[in-house]
Parts: sequence; C-alpha cells; structure tokens
Amino acid sequence: MSDLKIGIILGSTREGRVSPQVGQWIKSIADQRGDAHYEIVDIKDFNLPLLGEADASEQAGRWNEKLASLDGFIFIVQEYNHSISGALKNAIDYAREAWNNKAAGIVSYGSVGGARAAEHLRGILGELLVADVRVHPALSLFTDFVNGTEFKPQDLHLTNVNQMLDQLIAWSKALKTIR
Ligand SMILES: Cc1cc2nc3c(=O)[nH]c(=O)nc-3n(C[C@H](O)[C@H](O)[C@H](O)COP(=O)(O)O)c2cc1C
Repeated sequence: MSDLKIGIILGSTREGRVSPQVGQWIKSIADQRGDAHYEIVDIKDFNLPLLGEADASEQAGRWNEKLASLDGFIFIVQEYNHSISGALKNAIDYAREAWNNKAAGIVSYGSVGGARAAEHLRGILGELLVADVRVHPALSLFTDFVNGTEFKPQDLHLTNVNQMLDQLIAWSKALKTIR
C-alpha cells in the first residue's frame, strides 16, 4: 500500500443530503485498489461559518490541518442552481496553501449528471493550483437514484470511477514530488 492519502470530500451539508451515500460508494470501490489510503472528509463535521462572519480560527485550523494532511481529493459534487453548493464553495475559500499542488477527481450528480456544477468547480480549482483529472463520473438523479434519495448506481459507472482513480493516483504521486 502506498502512503498516499486521498480525501473524499462531501460537498453538501443539508439535512437529508445524499452525498454520504455517494461518498461511501466511491470509498468502497477505491478501498479495493490498495493504491492509497482513502478517507471520507465531511465538511459538516468542521462547522465552518460563512467565511469572515464569525471567529472561526479553531474550525479553520482543523479544516486546514485536515487538507494539509492529504495528497489528493475526490470531490463529491451536487448541482445547486447550476453550480456547486454554497457549503462547498465556503469550505474551499477557507484554505489556500493546503490545496496547492495537489490533484483532484470530481464525481458529480444532478439532473444532467451535475455537469454544470462540475465544470464550475474546475474553474475554482485552477485558481487554487489543484490539478483536476479529465475522467469525471457523472451520476443521474433519474437513473442512479430511486426517488432522488436512495442511491442505486448503475454498474456502467464502475469503469469511469476506476479510470478517474487511475488518473488521480498518478497525478497525486507526481505532484507530491514538487511540494
Ligand atoms: C438549492 C437547490 C438547487 C438545486 N438546483 C439544481 C440544479 O440546478 N440542477 C440539478 O440538476 N439539480 C438541482 N438540485 C437538485 C440536487 O442536485 C439534488 O437535490 C441533490 O440530491 C442535492 O445533493 P445533496 O442531496 O447531497 O444535497 C437542486 C437542489 C437544491 C437543494
């Protein structure tokens, strides 16, 4: 097992969110590969207020420490009004150096696979020197969920998930050498 550490970041925090189901599914596939240590990183656990609206030095410190301990990221992205959630953008804004020179994969969901949110995220990640890989598993609220709430992914996504992980691991290893 390599000593690479990859965080699976849950991008939503609302009551009733489905992101934990998607994150656990990705972790179960990733854990079978034996190529890195994968962990779920739940933004909700860090209780981050809106940036600048309260003294959040303790929460910000914990969040930055967690990100700094990771070599790469898998963003579990849900589409809110054709973009990423406010919770994810706020959490991203709380760190700078801890993101830099690392790689990321994106797994999204929505009515059209969360594609618009995923593309917005790519623009944000460029500013933070996060290298996002090309292969992007995109899950449909209509065909990969029952009633939009119970996650039942189609098998066809497995190929894409593993290709995304192949690219993420290669780039995470490469970028480690320049940090
Ligand atoms: C405020 C809000 C806006 C949304 N806007 C979109 C949208 O623009 N496109 C889309 O495909 N789904 C949209 N949805 C549906 C979400 O993608 C869906 O509810 C998804 O389960 C949200 O992820 P979560 O359960 O992890 O919070 C929206 C949901 C919310 C709560």
